[in-house]
Amino acid sequence: MTWGPDYGALEAADPQIAGAIADELRRQRSNLQLIASENLTSPAVLAAQGSVLTNKYAEGYPGHRYYGGCEFVDVAESLAIERAKTLFGAEHANVQPHAGAQANMAAYHALGVGHGDTILAMSLPHGGHLTHGSKVNFSGKWFNVVPYGVRRSDELIDLDEVAELAREHRPKVIVAGATAYPRTIDFGAFASIAEEVGAKFMVDAAHFAGLIAGGVHPSPVPHADVVTFTTHKTLRGPRGGTILCRAEHAKAVDKAVFPFLQGGPLMHAIAAKAVAFAEAAKPDFAGYARRVVDDARALAEALTGEGLRMVSGGTDIHYLLADLGELDLTGAEAETRLDAAGISLNKNAIPFDPRPPMVASGIRVGTASVATQGMDPAEMVEIAHLIGRVLKAPGDVEAVRADVAELVGRFPVYPELA
Ligand SMILES: Cc1ncc(COP(=O)(O)O)c(C=O)c1O
Repeated sequence: MTWGPDYGALEAADPQIAGAIADELRRQRSNLQLIASENLTSPAVLAAQGSVLTNKYAEGYPGHRYYGGCEFVDVAESLAIERAKTLFGAEHANVQPHAGAQANMAAYHALGVGHGDTILAMSLPHGGHLTHGSKVNFSGKWFNVVPYGVRRSDELIDLDEVAELAREHRPKVIVAGATAYPRTIDFGAFASIAEEVGAKFMVDAAHFAGLIAGGVHPSPVPHADVVTFTTHKTLRGPRGGTILCRAEHAKAVDKAVFPFLQGGPLMHAIAAKAVAFAEAAKPDFAGYARRVVDDARALAEALTGEGLRMVSGGTDIHYLLADLGELDLTGAEAETRLDAAGISLNKNAIPFDPRPPMVASGIRVGTASVATQGMDPAEMVEIAHLIGRVLKAPGDVEAVRADVAELVGRFPVYPELA
């Protein structure tokens, strides 16, 4: 039986969209992909994501739906839930959030944070995510946000500051987790602070969920009331979100996702999450996770050799944050120049950055995708040298592009696709 996507039919029906997809595959194959939040899913995840499950409405939860004909999507969602719980050792999992932002919004609601309530979370300029209280996001518009940051001296989270702010402001929820903080977070210390002030503790593990699953990063699950994460970053699944929580919050979390925040779940995405959770439980995923972290450390060391300063002195996770100050370059200039050489990454503010975020003084460099391709620390030394050439000698861009093509050619992306 043929049950997967028919790309021939897409090409015939809509050559423009088929062309854009083919071009994107070519781009993924020919560029060096160092964006910290991206990865390359397996063909099995792609197949589940492109399946007929997209046709099914299934408001509600397995066994309790508002639509008929849900017996097979119930199988998929139940598997996703059980696999997520087992993978992370969690008491409850909700696999329906459409993305990380929705997971966070539902988590706040489940923990009782409403209009005007106080949350304590990492400030965006120091590495926090938009959903941790940015003024342009729902979290900043609706909640009273008390931000914490990193120390100027070592660019690490200042736990004394977190404790002082918690005692002073008595937040309803304390959030740990970030989008640009390259160090492990002391979840136990955060949990103690939350307990002392009677706050709930929420961890946004969007970035490092795959590292937890692979056993190379401490798990926040034993410490937190709620853990949210995206399934598409280090976890290497489809785009989407998931919420883990203690049993006492299970009902509130489920109600917060549906019907409070979302309507019908994306059953094709949920099936793809189930596939990704099963993949992440396999021994070779642990090897991938180890490689991701080893690569990031090697890249940080080699880039230091190229004259870049590592924020916080290095990394414990899948990306590094580099300050371009010594090279007299902005993050925006570096991003544009590297893009022209076929190296994709993003500009990023560094702590206490004097420049606006669209210019920024740093770059964020991630290794999840290149580790999936099979690149090791030896290739990280090559990559650091390529980055160094582009940043220090703009005239070299064309030559570097050719060397990038040679490097990525050794690690084919989706060789099974035509
Ligand atoms: C820490 C963190 N939380 C949440 C999100 C939001 O995820 P999504 O883009 O899937 O909404 C991101 C995305 O980059 C993130 O880095």
